[in-house]
Amino acid sequence: DDTLAAALEALAADVARSAGRLVVDERPDAVEVAATKSTATDVVTAMDQASQDHLLSRLREARPDDAVMGEEDGGAAGTSGITWVVDPIDGTVNYLYGIPAYAVSVAAVVGDPTQHGGWRPFAAAVYNPVTDELYRARSGGGAFLVVGDEQAPLVPTSCDSLGQALVATGFGYAAERRERQGRLLLDLLPQVRDIRRAGSAALDLCAVAAGRVDAYYETGLNPWDLAGGWLVAHEAGAVVGGLDGPGESLTWACAPGLRTKFAEVVEVGTRTHLEG
Ligand code: IPD
Repeated sequence: DDTLAAALEALAADVARSAGRLVVDERPDAVEVAATKSTATDVVTAMDQASQDHLLSRLREARPDDAVMGEEDGGAAGTSGITWVVDPIDGTVNYLYGIPAYAVSVAAVVGDPTQHGGWRPFAAAVYNPVTDELYRARSGGGAFLVVGDEQAPLVPTSCDSLGQALVATGFGYAAERRERQGRLLLDLLPQVRDIRRAGSAALDLCAVAAGRVDAYYETGLNPWDLAGGWLVAHEAGAVVGGLDGPGESLTWACAPGLRTKFAEVVEVGTRTHLEG
């Protein structure tokens, strides 16, 4: 119900902020790569793990019966039917280089986030600790940007032409997937205003919500990359597609006026280049 969703949204905002402060305040001058994951370019820093440990202990303390699933090692099973899907630093490569576009993403979801299509976020917060921008949303409650004491509703752009659309995207870490993603991008690039690759899927989805880009798409995201930003975009009134979790599956969001044109071009492109 809405009282529970509102409480979980407030908790998501609180823990995302405190993890974000930790990540930015304790950022060493020279960030080091602690380990690599799927490929040599898929890096993890000590702060990814520290932020996740912080999120896990705060969430377990407040909600001991909920499950927690995060990008880094750890996680916990639960009995309540609610899972917290967390990305301790989304935009790790930006964090490594000191580019101020990374975020902590925290979402409460129902269903099993490991099952394609079988889950849905209902309360979430995405926090960029460098700009101190907090994006928050809950199902049916709208989406808001909070900066300091100021809070404003998030509204996508009124763009209705693909040729005028500024489109954000991102790429995975595996070379073979990147090559396919590059082919899809090659199809799209001549048809749109321009492309942005900002480096954080969570912030890209929030950028659609905030009208900072007109649309976003990416294939192969993990639940923690997209859960928080997906709900923010959806509640802001953007049209969103894809909630499938790992694989080659497509996640997209766009201004309402682009609905049919954008969905068609990215869905056809994904079928042609990524699933073919
Ligand atoms: C990555 C970022 C990036 C996206 C990648 C993600 P990470 O997450 O969201 O923008 O293109 O697909 O893996 O590794 O920084 O948490």
